[in-house]
Amino acid sequence: MKDAAPQTVHLSDYAPPAFLVEEVHLTFRLAPRATRVLSRICFRPNPDAAGGAFFLHGEELTLIRAAIDGAEVTPELTAAGLTCTVPDGPFTWEAEVEIAPEANTALEGLYMSRGMYCTQCEAEGFRKITYYPDRPDVMAPFTVRIEGEAPVMLSNGNPVGVGEGWAEWHDPWPKPAYLFALVAGDLVAERGSFVTRSGRTVDLAVWVRPGDEGKCAWAMEALGTSMRWDEERYGREYDLDVFNIVAVDDFNMGAMENKGLNIFNSAAVLASPETATDANFERIESIIAHEYFHNWTGNRITCRDWFQLCLKEGLTVFRDQEFTADLRSAAVKRIEDVRMLRARQFPEDQGPLAHPVRPESYQEINNFYTATVYEKGAEVIGMLKRLVGDDGYAKALDLYFDRHDGQACTIEDWLKVFEDATGRDLSQFKLWYEQAGTPRLSVEESFEGGTYTLTFTQHTPPTPGQEEKKPLVLPIALGLLSPNGDEVVPTRVLEMTEARQSFTFEGLASKPVPSILRGFSAPVVLERAADRDERAFLMAHDTDPFNKWEAGRALARESLIATVRTGAAPDAAWLEGVAAILRDESFEPAFRAQMLALPTQSELAQSLADRGETPDPDAIWGAVEGLKEALALHLADLAPALYDAMRVTGPYIPDAEQSGKRTLANAMLGLITRRDGGERAARQYAEADNMTLTLAALACLLRAGKGSPELAAFHERWQDDRLVMDKWFGLQIMEATPEAAVETARRLTGHPAFDMKNPNRFRAVLGALAGHHAGFHRADGAGYALLADWLIRLDPVNPQTAARMMTAFQTWRRYDAGRQAHARAALERIAATPGLSRDGAEMVGRMLA
Ligand code: ARG
Ligand code: ZN
Repeated sequence: MKDAAPQTVHLSDYAPPAFLVEEVHLTFRLAPRATRVLSRICFRPNPDAAGGAFFLHGEELTLIRAAIDGAEVTPELTAAGLTCTVPDGPFTWEAEVEIAPEANTALEGLYMSRGMYCTQCEAEGFRKITYYPDRPDVMAPFTVRIEGEAPVMLSNGNPVGVGEGWAEWHDPWPKPAYLFALVAGDLVAERGSFVTRSGRTVDLAVWVRPGDEGKCAWAMEALGTSMRWDEERYGREYDLDVFNIVAVDDFNMGAMENKGLNIFNSAAVLASPETATDANFERIESIIAHEYFHNWTGNRITCRDWFQLCLKEGLTVFRDQEFTADLRSAAVKRIEDVRMLRARQFPEDQGPLAHPVRPESYQEINNFYTATVYEKGAEVIGMLKRLVGDDGYAKALDLYFDRHDGQACTIEDWLKVFEDATGRDLSQFKLWYEQAGTPRLSVEESFEGGTYTLTFTQHTPPTPGQEEKKPLVLPIALGLLSPNGDEVVPTRVLEMTEARQSFTFEGLASKPVPSILRGFSAPVVLERAADRDERAFLMAHDTDPFNKWEAGRALARESLIATVRTGAAPDAAWLEGVAAILRDESFEPAFRAQMLALPTQSELAQSLADRGETPDPDAIWGAVEGLKEALALHLADLAPALYDAMRVTGPYIPDAEQSGKRTLANAMLGLITRRDGGERAARQYAEADNMTLTLAALACLLRAGKGSPELAAFHERWQDDRLVMDKWFGLQIMEATPEAAVETARRLTGHPAFDMKNPNRFRAVLGALAGHHAGFHRADGAGYALLADWLIRLDPVNPQTAARMMTAFQTWRRYDAGRQAHARAALERIAATPGLSRDGAEMVGRMLA
């Protein structure tokens, strides 16, 4: 049942729980339509709370019976839970409830995925399993008994016993209910083990459906690497006898860090060279690390309330980014992360869904698992580390783990450890957690008598509910180059704290060229009216790999914008700059490939909007096509040579070196295809023995308007592999022309293998449409209408995934009046849907406000 009037929850209303939990005993009698959950929970009044009624969350539960200290009670049931009169002092609560996992299509709480029982409790799913104080500041050890027919039955912690039709687990580490997990089904394991640095042996297992056992080796390897890395880099050791990972086909997110029992979307675990791309392998490695790292940053130290989500997510993303940077290439990883930040977080921060890294209110917390909380949250930690230095950061983290182990904490606690460990005052820095919006940073320069002065101005535009913005602390990493290309001032971090602030450099022989915001040292939009020559110069000479890339990116962006505005020809300086870097073998292939990555079409639309212009998606599409054509022509000789040079021989390894070569080769294939009509791509498709080469070849063919036989052959070969078929669905839309994207998506929603209930499949089709800029933003509104149709259908089935995909509309106000009218109509149609979920209502409400 849905609440009639959605309630807004405010950070300022936080009050400690009235009761604490000493321990929890759960018994599950599993049955698809009628699972019984028996709970025995020891409560005691919270001495730190100002009293308060006994309230347990509970949703969609059928209460069979309840007792306090052994005596039956009749609690008062509400839509959100129950209340009951309880004794003074400690008492034992017992309840039996019935739930229907098979009917649970929302994939929150206990549900079934192709015959397997599994759970997803973060953030508030445990209340759909039994009555409980379902809030992260209530932590307790859990003992869980599972009864059923499944051959494998898992829960958190260590195994206590297992017999015919039952298994028992005990998790000694007090945890909030959102970290509870249960899995039961016909599963097989890839097993491993890990000896911790203090010499304890941990049994590792990756559990999958029979048939998938050949696709777990990579995840297992990544797990071991992650465990070792967290010991070496953060001094964090694992704390149970077992660590289990389970792959589930139907899952709303990437994965979940349940204590000792991580549950993963199978797309984030399963990989073999034949079925997964290099990018998939890298993503799996980082998600395995991410979830593992949560054991300390999330589980041992958790969040006091959901407003503090970034406390665990921002930090854990930051840690997984460091991990990948250590394992692979730090420069390439930084570029990837910034591309992702700009593609996903910047639009959020600059539109109607903007919210602080630590939000102050929400209606549905599931709507706040956002790029802002995660990725901007990680950027904030990166800035903190830049400001206090590596040693300061290490000291602060040690103090954090020492001081707060076993606690549910806040951002205030987090900042305090940095203040105490480094002696710094972080009160202004804290604004990064409180103030939404992407700051704009502009620069003026002057040079006189050997003194060079840079004057920065920062300004953060208003966001919903926050009209006035204060100046933030900006770490600006900067280097200066002399006109001959030598670095005269190596990287140093300027600390900007005022709205307008100057920095001077003395004793320079000539006016230097500044390399500003090296490594993307702060998540801002740099508005520098740098000229083309300066960018070309930095592209050629900057010693900072990120800024070298950034200079090329900016040149490409300005070239594209000029084409959109005036039909100008592609910038020869960019074409030549790219060619020079491609030819330079001192740069690793993955870095060279990054130089070819153009700004996304949505970013170009935002750049135009920022300059007060109305972006035309078709013109942007045309400009990008034109630039790629020009590049293909400019590199007509180099592309085939580089393609050949990047050929990988020997067995497939998804490491940085091999995957970098394949990335560059595939980028060259894209250019070659523009000139040979697909001959080389067809050959690559025919000869490929791994998915990275197969998929890239197929993409090239589809983009060239060919590939029908290959598409059919691909379908034939992979129709029984869900994850590979997701690629088949998505690629056809991603590579469609703007005219064809909507029709292709519509046709694919009618394919027998299209299944709205599977989030991966839904995203493969509708998510690909939403990501096709010119296709989705088609002038006649057909893209908006098709997506709205499906979101309206999905909302009652799976509100979380539907609400998440509604973000496709967040940029709607950038476009022309005609498109705006179509987008508004689509959003209003969603808003008017009878029984629309709280998730969906909040999202469309914010976007229409
Ligand atoms: N904590 C998980 C992770 O980032 C994500 C859980 C998301 N849950 C949700 N209801 N949105 O690793
Ligand atoms: Zn996480």
